[in-house]
Amino acid sequence: MSSPTETPIEESLRVAARRFGTPLFVTDLATVDAACAAATAAFPDPIIRQYSVKANDVPAVIARVASQGFGANVVSRGEWALAHRAGVPNARITLEGVGKTPADLRDAVRAAAAGSPLRWIALESPEEAQALALTVRRTRQARLRIDVLYRLNPDVIPETHAGLAVGSGASKFGMTETEIGEAIEAGGGPDGLLRPRGIHLHVGSQLGAVDAWRDAVRKAVAMAALWRGSIETFDTVDLGGGFPVLPADQPSPAPERFARELPAALETVPDDRRPTRLAIEPGRALVARAGWLVARVLHVRDRGGRQVVIDAGMTELIRPALYGARHPIVALTSLGREFVPGAAAGRGAEPARVEGPICESTDSLGTHGLPPLRRGDLVAIADAGAYAASLGSAYNGRPRPPQVMRAPDGSLTVGRRRGSLASLG
Ligand SMILES: Cc1ncc(COP(=O)(O)O)c(C=O)c1O
Repeated sequence: MSSPTETPIEESLRVAARRFGTPLFVTDLATVDAACAAATAAFPDPIIRQYSVKANDVPAVIARVASQGFGANVVSRGEWALAHRAGVPNARITLEGVGKTPADLRDAVRAAAAGSPLRWIALESPEEAQALALTVRRTRQARLRIDVLYRLNPDVIPETHAGLAVGSGASKFGMTETEIGEAIEAGGGPDGLLRPRGIHLHVGSQLGAVDAWRDAVRKAVAMAALWRGSIETFDTVDLGGGFPVLPADQPSPAPERFARELPAALETVPDDRRPTRLAIEPGRALVARAGWLVARVLHVRDRGGRQVVIDAGMTELIRPALYGARHPIVALTSLGREFVPGAAAGRGAEPARVEGPICESTDSLGTHGLPPLRRGDLVAIADAGAYAASLGSAYNGRPRPPQVMRAPDGSLTVGRRRGSLASLG
């Protein structure tokens, strides 16, 4: 077995930029492992841990997370295919999402009919339950049953950005209590084609406190207990994701802090009505800190303050433009020479407004303390492992950047090649 590297991450990022060009993503696999270990310690077996693939759908990343004891939670046939490519079997894949298409449902039913069912499908509406049941009936396999969860809209006020507060009552996600009853009926009730297994929940992303999550979990546990009274198979509560990864100067609850709320939530219902299967499906918390987006400086100008335009922006990392998210930025070189923060006398950090290269004024990464920079210098954007590449676009004719994996021994391998010009058209 190779030993852990002593090469600083900044050195690996410089090497990767020289070898593979910019912009590029580098994922530090040791950081992925550490994040998975923290989530596992907070939510140990027999809790089912599903990785929310939407956070980072690069198969090499999915495979690494899966190797740490996580299944895959997908929202489409596309994500399902990527999870397969990463080697995750159907038995460890769950399908959820407000946008499931007839083709998604059809493939899920086909997989079950072929004897390789997904672990479960989380439903979003009575209509979706009806459509899924019809798809099952069309197989004419009399014994075929699909395990389903019902996504609850918990109607809470999540402590997060409005754009990430999917658990609020007015959001498009999940069902009311009445709709869940209708969805169970639409699936044929306790002995129908859809086997009712429990409640699915997701309160929101980047939860800055545990209060809304706790309230939502209590609602989900209470509702599952209610249904368990009449449906024996109703044994599962999937708590969703949402564990935050915020800049270091913003304190935020760790997965363990959320887990601490669980025992009291379960005690609110009688012993024999408690879920016997609990699940989580974090995305960001497992991969965000592991990801770096490396870019080169294109222009340095004075615009009533220093302005630095780099070759990565909203096409690779849309979070600042979409949510006002802030990502730390560090210099890897300064005036063409290797830069080690704090080590070079006379090369101190001064504020610079960092802008992306896209023809949109909102393509801006905020003001950061950076050393002197000139065209060709390298910078790295931190915490870019989640909702960055997976939310990327080819706007302005920009092929997607390569994905480079940094193994714990420091070696670099390409997990996904840079997109070609041909891939644009
Ligand atoms: C249903 C569901 N589960 C899990 C997640 C993962 O959330 P996070 O990456 O914040 O953990 C999301 C994110 O949107 C989601 O919609």
